[in-house]
Amino acid sequence: MSYVSAVKSNKIPLVDMRSDTVTKPTEGMRAAMLAASVGDDVYGDDPTVNELQERAARLLGKEAALFMSSGTQSNLVAMLAHCQRGEEVLCGADYHVFIDEAGGASVLGGIMFAPMAMNSNGSVDPETIKRTIKPDDEHCPISRMLSLENSWHGRVQPLSDITAAARCGRKYGLVVHLDGARMMNAVIRLGISPSELVADVDSVSLCLSKGLGAPVGTLLAGPKSFIRRAHRIRKLVGGGLRQVGVLAAAGLYALDHHIERLASDHDNALRLAEQLSLIPGVAADPAAVETNMVFVDFAEGAGVRLRDHLAAKGMLIVADSDHVRLVTHLDCGAAEIDLFATEVRAFFG
Ligand SMILES: Cc1ncc(COP(=O)(O)O)c(C=O)c1O
Repeated sequence: MSYVSAVKSNKIPLVDMRSDTVTKPTEGMRAAMLAASVGDDVYGDDPTVNELQERAARLLGKEAALFMSSGTQSNLVAMLAHCQRGEEVLCGADYHVFIDEAGGASVLGGIMFAPMAMNSNGSVDPETIKRTIKPDDEHCPISRMLSLENSWHGRVQPLSDITAAARCGRKYGLVVHLDGARMMNAVIRLGISPSELVADVDSVSLCLSKGLGAPVGTLLAGPKSFIRRAHRIRKLVGGGLRQVGVLAAAGLYALDHHIERLASDHDNALRLAEQLSLIPGVAADPAAVETNMVFVDFAEGAGVRLRDHLAAKGMLIVADSDHVRLVTHLDCGAAEIDLFATEVRAFFG
């Protein structure tokens, strides 16, 4: 069975390492969704959504938060709420907002991106930020916003990197946003609180549907005035939802039960890297594992063949080259990793 037919077969894979977005709601989460009180969130009277938004604002140390249907929508709304047409967002050249969100801020908001060189952990140096900010000159776009990302590709920037970049941006008049799709992985790795990580940024997107295991949802948090603008823009992009308390209940459950457990995803990623590093034909570096992602280089030409071999065994990875990202999550624990490593060993053996 090829990878494509395995994906389309509707069979539940034995092992799925494509992403942490593939998790299914747990029994406990489904029970919470079933029991959720709901209202019409466009009228603002869904009690579960209101509770989730208040909880997220407290958790992140911000004045207010707003439920969004996805991380892409949350980052887009943040950029549209912070920037006007002809203004620009400075960001890392390999950040999700720049390369993986269909250029939404430019398409819909007339906003430019100013991509910047990054360090290997995903941080951007204050010097680079300073150099990228445009002068007050009619030839130039207006530099308005700095967008950061942590964790980035499984790597974690220490608080000092985020603080230095954010303070530099603010010093030069930029508003600062953090794409914190996987910020809880960074929080757990760093052993700090979520509010500490985002203390120096104005706004933040936190995804519930990645390592936190909810089926849908991202929270956008920031100052009240910003969230009021974001609320209008969310409507504009079709993101006003109705009895969405069933999804907010999953989000509340995720915040209650799935943050601390990210540590075991990180341990499992290390276990995976350690096992793979012993297989001839596989280059994996356990020392490079910081959260729930393992980047692996397979022997030349082996990546796609291995992907199809694994798919036939009910194991899914994304591989269109020999450089592959493997992701651990709620539904991919030690047993799945051992099974996977055995199959990879058999393939190269
Ligand atoms: C860093 C980062 N930001 C934003 C997103 C967008 O999230 P979504 O897929 O919910 O739109 C992703 C998705 O994987 C991501 O990895």
